[in-house]
Amino acid sequence: MCIMIKLLVYIKHHLTFIWRIVELINSILVRILWSHKFRKIPIICGVLSVGTKYNYRILELGDIESLHYLLNNQNKDYLNYFSPHKTDLKTLKKIVKNYNYLTFGCFDGDKLVGYFFLRLFFTRRAFIGRLVDENYQGKGIAKQMSKLLYAVADEIDFPIYSTISKKNIGSLKSHQSVRKYTVVKELKDNYLLIKFDKQ
Ligand SMILES: CC(C)(COP(=O)(O)OP(=O)(O)OC[C@H]1O[C@@H](n2cnc3c(N)ncnc32)[C@H](O)[C@@H]1OP(=O)(O)O)[C@@H](O)C(=O)NCCC(=O)NCCS
Repeated sequence: MCIMIKLLVYIKHHLTFIWRIVELINSILVRILWSHKFRKIPIICGVLSVGTKYNYRILELGDIESLHYLLNNQNKDYLNYFSPHKTDLKTLKKIVKNYNYLTFGCFDGDKLVGYFFLRLFFTRRAFIGRLVDENYQGKGIAKQMSKLLYAVADEIDFPIYSTISKKNIGSLKSHQSVRKYTVVKELKDNYLLIKFDKQ
């Protein structure tokens, strides 16, 4: 891992106040530098929802309670490999509102059954995160989420990465079935840094 990333990881875990400033600056820079490229995202969501059983769209502030319920009502073991951020209402509101994340939901009618996002860095890097309600697994939702995230990342021209545990077979398989990727680096605790190929 390069020194800059090591430093950021250290700040995130040990210097909360400074990390908040880093997040704020990143959010402002993403907004200034890249938000003009976000205009077509709702259209991409619409196109990729057509012909599927579910509706995939950008999350709004009105979805926070549903997101809170989804993230806090899965079995603990199910979330062993998914802890991108805190899941209290205040944090979720911040995440949906600011430019550090582009957040999306998968809806079965009015019910939020999947959460997925691109974590954006102003240096033009995006990291993928996906969670499907455990009662909705195996229906191809994660695959559709991936297609949408790849399409958005291609549209805004951000290379896409993910850190995935080697033990998270479901996550690796569902990515493999949509787009090729390269393992950039083996990280500690059996995690892989993965870069997805551009189409
Ligand atoms: C991993 C996860 C996102 C998969 O969601 P899903 O909607 O059930 O996956 P899909 O139905 O889209 O499956 C896509 C493919 O992956 C395969 N797959 C999914 N879960 C699998 C598992 N546990 N073991 C083996 N294969 C699996 C499917 O068979 C399918 O393969 P196919 O295209 O050859 O038919 C979901 O289980 C989840 O949210 N897990 C908890 C959170 C998590 O770990 N997120 C990833 C963090 S990196």
